[in-house]
Amino acid sequence: MSGEIAEGPAAVLAWNRALLGEEEIAEAVDALRSGWLTTGPKTARFEAGVRELTGAEDAFAVNSCTAALHLALLAGGVGAGDEVITPSLTFCAIANVIARVGATPVLVDVLPDQLNLDPAAVAAAVSGRTRAIVAMHYGGHPCEMDELREIADQHGLLLIEDAAHAIGAQYRGRPVGSLGDLAAFSFYANKNITTGEGGMLVGRADLVRSARLLGRHGLSRVAWQRHGDRGPADYDVLEAGLKYNMSDVLAAVGVHQLKRLPEFLARRGVIAARYSQELAGLPGLWLPGTAADVRHAWHLYPVQVSPGRAGMDRDALAEALAAAGIATSIHFTPIHRLARYRDLADPAVMPHTERAADRLLSLPCYPAMTDDDVSRVIAAIRQAWGEPAP
Ligand SMILES: Cc1ncc(COP(=O)(O)O)c(C=O)c1O
Repeated sequence: MSGEIAEGPAAVLAWNRALLGEEEIAEAVDALRSGWLTTGPKTARFEAGVRELTGAEDAFAVNSCTAALHLALLAGGVGAGDEVITPSLTFCAIANVIARVGATPVLVDVLPDQLNLDPAAVAAAVSGRTRAIVAMHYGGHPCEMDELREIADQHGLLLIEDAAHAIGAQYRGRPVGSLGDLAAFSFYANKNITTGEGGMLVGRADLVRSARLLGRHGLSRVAWQRHGDRGPADYDVLEAGLKYNMSDVLAAVGVHQLKRLPEFLARRGVIAARYSQELAGLPGLWLPGTAADVRHAWHLYPVQVSPGRAGMDRDALAEALAAAGIATSIHFTPIHRLARYRDLADPAVMPHTERAADRLLSLPCYPAMTDDDVSRVIAAIRQAWGEPAP
């Protein structure tokens, strides 16, 4: 199967495309036929699978990673007047939920090699109002979690993993999702495993229990219990809750995507290794590396173009690839460059983020790509440098 989508005469290689099989489809149809469409037995299976993968104490399947992050803050007691430290080089979801609970995002710089939170910058940003650190595993490369844990413990802070990119990744032999007090996964359409829309909050049992209550209207008993084997629909409302739970129709897809995660990760690793080998040495083209003690999930393969040495900038490379029918993407416009958050940070104190933001380009890297698709990307990039295909 190829990552190509037919678009007019020239087939465009999409930046991302999900790989779904007959098992996912059959299980989703089974959910539809069962008549039980909301959270139920298939969601429970999906939660058990992610719990097993991560070794987390508990797991709550929700309808997005954004919902999981929101619940993580609420369950952790983060609220008005608090500060939450997070990288600026990330997706807007975390900044939005921090602001939405009345707290302030404190945006800090990343390490230049892995583009993850710089622990020294985190330590320097801790104040008397800091309540939590949210570490985002950029592109699927785990953060320096031991150092972040030390800072969190020293100041009594909650440590949350934004693991949207990183299901299946490992840090020093330990799975992502087991490294913080809580972790949030995304199963959005372009993620390493997908349910179309979806997410999961995993972590400490006490916190996930609170999150589950908050994510289901604050109800003392949920629909599955009320209408399942357990008898009549009596319930009470214990908290001013939200409605974030996952549907069994989507969990059905997730159960089988999760089974295929090892295969998906292996394929992502092979594609990344080919890029790293066959694009090495092009002047001014920075390629992502992997720390010795991690297992990368390769959600992204982000290159950086240094205009001085490459003789072109990132946008010119993106245009050259688009002309060759290859889609790319950018991760991310840093939070401090977004209108809502522009006042929050001085760009001068984030040199690595600033530099990366102007240079980053995410290449297609996903299991639905064929070897020929990968060769095509490599050839187009080498051609932009005036080099033959390897
Ligand atoms: C780092 C990061 N966190 C959170 C999210 C939000 O995920 P979702 O769309 O499942 O809410 C994304 C989405 O792309 C992301 O990249």
